[in-house]
Amino acid sequence: MSLTSILRPIRIGRYALQAETQWLWRRRFADPGDFVLVEEYTYSGTIEAAGPLGLSLVPVAMDSDGINPESLDEILSTWDELHPGARAPKLLYIIPTGHNPTGVTQPRHRRQDVLEVAERHDLLIVEDDPYHYLQFPRPGSGSDYLSIPSYLSLSRSGRVIRLDSTSKILAPGLRLGWLTAPKAIVETFQAAHDLGFVQSSGVSQLVTYKLVSETWGHDGFLRWLQGLAGYYHAKATVMLRAMDRELGTGILADVCSWNAISAGMFIWLRIECSRLPEMSQTAVDAEARQRALLKVEDRIYTEAIKEGVLPCKGSFFRASTSPCGGASSNGAQPSDSIFLRLTFASCEEEQLVAAVERLGTALRNIFHPKSGVIQTEMV
Ligand SMILES: Cc1ncc(COP(=O)(O)O)c(C=O)c1O
Repeated sequence: MSLTSILRPIRIGRYALQAETQWLWRRRFADPGDFVLVEEYTYSGTIEAAGPLGLSLVPVAMDSDGINPESLDEILSTWDELHPGARAPKLLYIIPTGHNPTGVTQPRHRRQDVLEVAERHDLLIVEDDPYHYLQFPRPGSGSDYLSIPSYLSLSRSGRVIRLDSTSKILAPGLRLGWLTAPKAIVETFQAAHDLGFVQSSGVSQLVTYKLVSETWGHDGFLRWLQGLAGYYHAKATVMLRAMDRELGTGILADVCSWNAISAGMFIWLRIECSRLPEMSQTAVDAEARQRALLKVEDRIYTEAIKEGVLPCKGSFFRASTSPCGGASSNGAQPSDSIFLRLTFASCEEEQLVAAVERLGTALRNIFHPKSGVIQTEMV
């Protein structure tokens, strides 16, 4: 398989600074006051940019296959009735592979279902896919390890703007990425690029060209990508095994849960908090419970740091006003869970095991058994 065969379905491509393409799609395709559809947990850079650009994010429920097409359809079908006078969203921003922060990779059928909804409601999709090439190789997959097609290659109607980045596959310091979309859309970006950022770093472009094109060649680059994906897969396996041992047994067995991942660098840890006194003593009122959950999240986070490990708070990635797990991730019952985003990207395997052990200690400090009931020390 060559890079050309991966790129064949792509109509047009152009190199650009990834942060710039991130900025441009928000700037060029959404006006202040617009609503933009996003997964209910999403890249923090998008959440942070929305406010200053005057955009409101509309979170769409997720399940274990990623964004839920029925929820997406319902939001759009009932929009005019529920938001009289507000322009219906025309943009959907998604992270389909190794999702940041939940680690989910949307299977092909989910992508097709989401595309169908996008067709029905005439949505433009921004496919932000920096983890695409980090799909874990299956045994015997050989050089065909990229089994899940991009939205860009599945779409027949040119409604996808695809963003790729060198950050996760070469080096984040290069600050290079590329955008692929129908010609008219690329030209719009090109015009804005020429007036704004003007040029991506020449040094970065030269280094990347020398490495990828002159030294590796396309086949060598693909071998590099597959090796890197295998390297992350091995680390994910070590971390998940350590989690099984440390967080999946004893008093934490009923508290912690997570899903295996098939791409990327993130594992999404769910922590069920309903038995903590902060929750059992809090009124049923949803807002009060959300505030209580935020405090619990902060306490778990602080305890983890005290034990020497640094997870990311899940609320940091939540694209809505309700901060933690109060709204469910699958459109079902609200829960008393908080989430932590864990990553194995930059640690050696022994460090990963030590980190999970420290997290286990931190959680046991909080959820320790007393009189047969899981309780916590009040601080
Ligand atoms: C979904 C997503 N988009 C964009 C980025 C940023 O990419 P870059 O470093 O190329 O600007 C990240 C990095 O964390 C990400 O997870």
